[in-house]
Amino acid sequence: YPIFAQQGYENPREATGRIVCATCHLANKLVEIEVPQAVLPDIVFEVVVRIPYDMQLKQVLANGKKGELNVGPVLILPEGFELAPPDRISPEMKERIGNLSFQSYRPNKKNILVVGPVPGKKYSEITFPILSPDPATTKDVHFLKYTIYVGGNRGRGQIYPDGSKSNNTVYNATAAGIVSKIIRKEKGGYEITITDASEGRQVVDIIPPGPELLVSEGESIKFDQPLMSNPNVGGFGQGDAEIVLQDPLHVQGLLFFLVSVILAQIFLVLKKKQFEKVQLAEMNF
Ligand code: HEM
Repeated sequence: YPIFAQQGYENPREATGRIVCATCHLANKLVEIEVPQAVLPDIVFEVVVRIPYDMQLKQVLANGKKGELNVGPVLILPEGFELAPPDRISPEMKERIGNLSFQSYRPNKKNILVVGPVPGKKYSEITFPILSPDPATTKDVHFLKYTIYVGGNRGRGQIYPDGSKSNNTVYNATAAGIVSKIIRKEKGGYEITITDASEGRQVVDIIPPGPELLVSEGESIKFDQPLMSNPNVGGFGQGDAEIVLQDPLHVQGLLFFLVSVILAQIFLVLKKKQFEKVQLAEMNF
């Protein structure tokens, strides 16, 4: 959950560029981001994040039963950009946003937003309403090209913040030997006893309800060999996009320059025509 990241990491994007959700959401899946190429200062615009997956899929829930997947994104905007205030969001944009609630990653980090978990069937596409900063009123913001980073996840994680495994992950043998006993527990899950052939040492691997058994009694297995199939159907992905904070004076200046170039060309042609007339008049046959 995003809250696990908020509690455990000051900054969701590490120096290597990896977004911290990937620590616990081990599978790598796609995420898409769509932003305008450029925005003017102090306007509200949309950032669209898509977390696609096969809607037919079911995942194992914490109780071992199957259920739907949830999704959640984290959006890392440049310093100064933040969630648009509700009174500046147009009704059409409100419709695209739906009933989502956006949270700052930290009270003092308004440029980092998290959502979720929310049902994936409804929110595999999420629209963020964003307000661009104004360099005239905000310090340390300049008319520049900036990068926006996004992370998006569908499905349950593999590791809890305390380091323990969830039931939505691979379970491997913690010793080599012979599978001497498999007990299926009443509430689901297994207790697998592995006996070391030479020393007679026994190890019991306890598997929670969810993953499916891959080994059988009497089988000889290696250390770290998977005992269960990997039930995880979800995954986390990250991406980025570029956005230009555009100075309106630059655009006006460019338009002025283009218009003056066109006018200059037209006047040059007119001057040439006039000169040709003079040339014709002065010609002696
Ligand atoms: C569940 C997103 C960080 C561990 C989820 C779910 C979402 C999500 C959407 C619900 C999935 C579902 O129910 O189908 C994120 C995002 C993160 C993040 C966007 C980063 C901002 C983390 C971190 C950890 C973690 C850092 C580990 C410390 C888990 C676990 C579950 C889970 C164990 C399953 C909980 C359960 O159902 O028992 N996460 N997560 N997540 N997340 Fe994360």
